[in-house]
Parts: sequence; structure tokens; C-alpha cells
Amino acid sequence: MNQENIVVITGGASGIGLSSTNRFLKEGYEVIIIDIDKKAGKKLEKDLKSKGYTLIFKHCNISSYQQVKEVFKSLKNDNKTPNVLVNSAGISPGLNMLHKYPVDEWHKAIEINLNGTFYSCREFLKLAINKKIKSGAIVNVASIMGVRASGAQASYAASKHAVVGLTKSIGIEYAPLNIRANAVGPGVIDTPMNTELMKDEKIMQFLLSRIPNNRVATPDEVANLIFFLASPEASYITGSYYPVDGGYLAT
Ligand SMILES: NC(=O)c1ccc[n+]([C@@H]2O[C@H](COP(=O)([O-])OP(=O)(O)OC[C@H]3O[C@@H](n4cnc5c(N)ncnc54)[C@H](O)[C@@H]3O)[C@@H](O)[C@H]2O)c1
Repeated sequence: MNQENIVVITGGASGIGLSSTNRFLKEGYEVIIIDIDKKAGKKLEKDLKSKGYTLIFKHCNISSYQQVKEVFKSLKNDNKTPNVLVNSAGISPGLNMLHKYPVDEWHKAIEINLNGTFYSCREFLKLAINKKIKSGAIVNVASIMGVRASGAQASYAASKHAVVGLTKSIGIEYAPLNIRANAVGPGVIDTPMNTELMKDEKIMQFLLSRIPNNRVATPDEVANLIFFLASPEASYITGSYYPVDGGYLAT
């Protein structure tokens, strides 16, 4: 396997991350999944390996810097140098007015959605520079809440706005080294994260009324954008944010 075709995908065992895993595998990449869900990750590794794909699952909580560091150290020891990083691991915290917002839930959203993304970007870039890769790409999964807000979702909006800022900074800092960084902003996507939400007809009606395409998206529709931004086709695209939202942000 060509060293230039290795992608690390955080949250690669479910939803948008899983669609990305499947897409990169189909395009001939070796995929390394980082996920906290050991059962799903192990099963995926077994299933996809039996189909002939090259996939490694690393059980890891991305909100632990130590654990993320260990994963990238093990990749270095195994002489694997990823040239693409997709950060899809994330959570959607509970809804609440800010003055009643549980402080531990605030910290959890920031620790997973923001700090986790920072840790994996840091370790990916460190390894990429150590191994002097010729080109690389990072795609961080933010949200429409990375540029817009809605009531009762301050911790999510704050974490995703910060992911967009982090991504832009990386784009600027690493452009001279030919490592690009972009963020994607999914709207409402049909993934396990939204299973409960999508059962609520009233909320769905309200959400759909705000989406010009009048439907939710499949995770594959987000993975299409992620793959494009990671590929050489996007060679002059960096430091930016791209929504995939059925027109939501245009309204
Ligand atoms: N589904 C949507 O409508 C939507 C919209 C906008 C943005 N997003 C963002 O897309 C990303 C993926 O969401 P999804 O809908 O695919 O959700 P999902 O719940 O299907 O998948 C999230 C994955 O991240 C993993 N994960 C969660 N916490 C982790 C941790 N601490 N360490 C390692 N892995 C962890 C989970 O185990 C899971 O495999 C998230 O960052 C989410 O905020 C989703």
C-alpha cells in the first residue's frame, strides 16, 4: 500500500464517519478508525477485512490527549504515515438554557468536539512533519452550528464555531508545507446521532420547513464532500468551511 493513501478517521465506526470509512476504502485508501465504541469498531474491522479491505481499528477516547498520542505513536512504530485525517467523532449535547446548563455537559462538549479534534490534528501534523510528507489534508466535521447558532445549543455551537476557527488556523499555518485543512458543515443528517430526533414529527416538520431541499441528508452525501476535500482534486482549497445542508444557510 502506497504510504500516501492512508487516512485516519475519528468517529469512523458510525454515521458520517462510517460513510467516510466506506468511501475511502472503496477509493483504495488504507483506513485507520479511531473510535470510543469498541464493539462497533471491532465488528467493522472484522467485516471489512473479510471483504479484503485494509482497515485498522484503534479503540480511543479522543478527549484524552494521552490516548490520542498513543494511537499516533503506535502508527509511527508500525511505520504507517497517514496523509489524510478526517475528524468526525463528536457528540450532540443536551438542550438547555445557558443559565441552567449543566457545567459538566458544557465541558464534555468542548472536550470531545473541540479538544479531541485539536489533539488528533496536533498528533497527525507532528507525524506528518516528522515523516516529511509531500502533501496532506485534514477535514474536520463541524456543523451548520459552526457558523450559526440556535437556542439552547450553546455548548454545541461554541465547540463547532471553535472547530471552524481551528481549521482555518491550520489551513494558514500549514499551507507552506502543502498540508490543507478544511471544515465541513453538515445540516440535518440521517445518522444514529439523530435517531431520537427523527422520531419527533413536530421537530422534524419544523426543521424541514427551514431546509430548502425539504429533506434530511444521507451520511454518504456528507462523505462525498469530505472525500473531495481530502483528495488532490481539491489541491487549491484550504482554510475554509463548506456547508452540506440542503440550502439551510442560504435562508
Ligand atoms: N448527524 C447530524 O445531523 C450532524 C449535523 C452536523 C454535524 N454533525 C457532526 O458530524 C459528526 C459525526 O456525527 P454523526 O451524526 O455521524 O454521529 P454518530 O453518533 O453516528 O457518530 C459519532 C461517532 O463518534 C464516536 N465518538 C463519540 N465520542 C467519541 C470520543 N470521545 N472518542 C472517540 N470517538 C467518539 C461515536 O462512537 C460514533 O462512532 C459529529 O462531529 C457531529 O457533531 C452531525
